[in-house]
Amino acid sequence: MSRRRQIYEGKAKILYEGPEPGTIIQYFKDDATAFNAQKKGMISGKGVINNRVSEHIFTLLAGIGIPTHFIRRLNMREQLVKQVEIIPIEVVIRNVAAGSLSKRLGIEEGTPLPRTIIEYYYKDDALNDPMVADEHIACFGWATQEEMHDIADMAIRVNDFMSGLFAAINIRLVDFKLEFGRVWENDYSRVLLADEISPDGCRLWDMVTNEKLDKDRFRQDLGGEVEAYQEIARRLGLLPVEP
Ligand code: C5P
Repeated sequence: MSRRRQIYEGKAKILYEGPEPGTIIQYFKDDATAFNAQKKGMISGKGVINNRVSEHIFTLLAGIGIPTHFIRRLNMREQLVKQVEIIPIEVVIRNVAAGSLSKRLGIEEGTPLPRTIIEYYYKDDALNDPMVADEHIACFGWATQEEMHDIADMAIRVNDFMSGLFAAINIRLVDFKLEFGRVWENDYSRVLLADEISPDGCRLWDMVTNEKLDKDRFRQDLGGEVEAYQEIARRLGLLPVEP
């Protein structure tokens, strides 16, 4: 583990003070939770894979001009990122009906959506991360309208890019969650893509068999979660995961 001062421990990651001011170290755990931590478990080696997958995707996104918090991977389980003020909104992008959308609206899982949907959830475990509208976000000052504009714009660009990235390896990007943070430069704030992108926060289905290769294997007790995460890393060309 790290020798540095711990700032925060979340469900899947620990944040430590970084070596320079304005930096943070993200440590990826093997712990898995679902349903707002009502279900707890472990996916052996998940932290190593998520660290590597997230590095890969954030690096590719930086290459198409998406500003991100990612600086560099440090080792098997840690990466150095910019310290940001996390915007307390989970941004969910959906291409195919699944999960809470299917449940809430009675739409059969697997139904392709005629257009991409972006949803916002207020990050608050005690409230079970309720879905909110732009109006709530503006009303309660969680993000400015300019920031929300940038977030929606980036979410669509990330979705377009990632849908293609996964389609090329025969995987359907059903839906996924993004988080954003702000950094201050003089008197101006800038929005950066933050957190991680990994099979923990994406629904990824094999295009041929529809097999689920993501955290739904854990949520739904399907088994084979380690193999599913490894399969994603393998198809992305990331195995063996380098130290
Ligand atoms: O559960 P739901 O269908 O709303 O999830 C949509 C997508 O967002 C899924 O890919 C899920 O993995 C991700 N998600 C997440 N963290 C949450 C809620 C959803 O990563 N707290």
